[in-house]
Amino acid sequence: MKNILVTGGLGYIGSHTVVALQQAGFSVYIIDDLSNSQLEVWEKITAITKIQPVYYNIDLKDLNAVSVFFQSHKIDGIIHFAAYKAVGESVEKPLMYYRNNLMGLMNVLEAMEENKVDNFIFSSSCTVYGQADAMPINESTPLKRPESPYGNTKKMGEEIIEDFVNATGKNAIALRYFNPVGAHNSATIGEVPNGIPNNLIPYVTQTAMGIRESLGVFGNDYETRDGTAVRDYIDVNDLADAHVKAMQRLLEGKNKSNLEFFNLGSGNGSTVLEIVTAFEEANNLKINYEIKPRRAGDIVQAYADYSFAKNELGWQPTTPLQASMQTAWKFQQQLGEVKE
Ligand code: WQD
Repeated sequence: MKNILVTGGLGYIGSHTVVALQQAGFSVYIIDDLSNSQLEVWEKITAITKIQPVYYNIDLKDLNAVSVFFQSHKIDGIIHFAAYKAVGESVEKPLMYYRNNLMGLMNVLEAMEENKVDNFIFSSSCTVYGQADAMPINESTPLKRPESPYGNTKKMGEEIIEDFVNATGKNAIALRYFNPVGAHNSATIGEVPNGIPNNLIPYVTQTAMGIRESLGVFGNDYETRDGTAVRDYIDVNDLADAHVKAMQRLLEGKNKSNLEFFNLGSGNGSTVLEIVTAFEEANNLKINYEIKPRRAGDIVQAYADYSFAKNELGWQPTTPLQASMQTAWKFQQQLGEVKE
């Protein structure tokens, strides 16, 4: 049985990936410092799979603690989610983001080299493309400087990994997610925002719950179908499946270069108002919303061409948007009143 380390494994995409890895027969170790996750997710994962992953509360910025972990566990592959991810906060506190996201990454890479771990998967983001000139976005679309320090830590992270694998001959895959949405069918794990939600769907579900008065729609004067911005909403369970397939690709030596990139999206673009309607129809309720000014740093549109992941990973999105809207709502109802 192969041992996989999942950093940030108690977080949103991390926890769903841990479940998928365990169900695919992997033995999973989680490192998570709980800076943007909850300890109870550990028992929720265990309740779903009936297998308790090994969990350590380690700050990846502490190189000594990271080294001790690797010296005491034989790890066959790593999936690295652990990072701060609030776009707005990163604009206010750039150095906190660069230090946490890049120091954590470099410590894991250094420990990989010291302990002969060969396979690494990086949680990246479509934000590395900035506002792409043409749609849909594929892996050869030119990168641009992302609008936020958060996005820049993803782009710089990919560059650090590229230099690392070129120097060491290790193997890595960077998965560039579009907009993750939805929750596990059990409604016991999902996206738990820290305070006021930055992302659209948690704000929608909190509005539906009555926790928020109304949803602010950031701008309706974009050059799009209905004036609101377009994104590619991809179900978190489909994303988890892609991580399992990517890890299997590396473990079986099927990767065709030391560093590969895959866009993970549904291939469909939805406007903000189309998402509001989809959520209302999927859950038979109404969402209060009001048009607000554009949010600084937002791009107009982004949606994926995932054919490279389909051809090389044998992956494709299978969850309809309606189902993601339903699981997101079911999870919010299970969460109940969210603590500020
Ligand atoms: C989606 C759309 C907003 C909230 C970022 C990161 C990406 C990924 C997901 C981190 C935009 C609009 C939002 C609201 C709104 N990683 N919106 N009212 O900005 O596309 O992507 O988060 O988690 O790497 O870049 O996601 O959900 O914030 O916004 O109108 O209250 O919804 O303007 O058009 P984004 P988002």
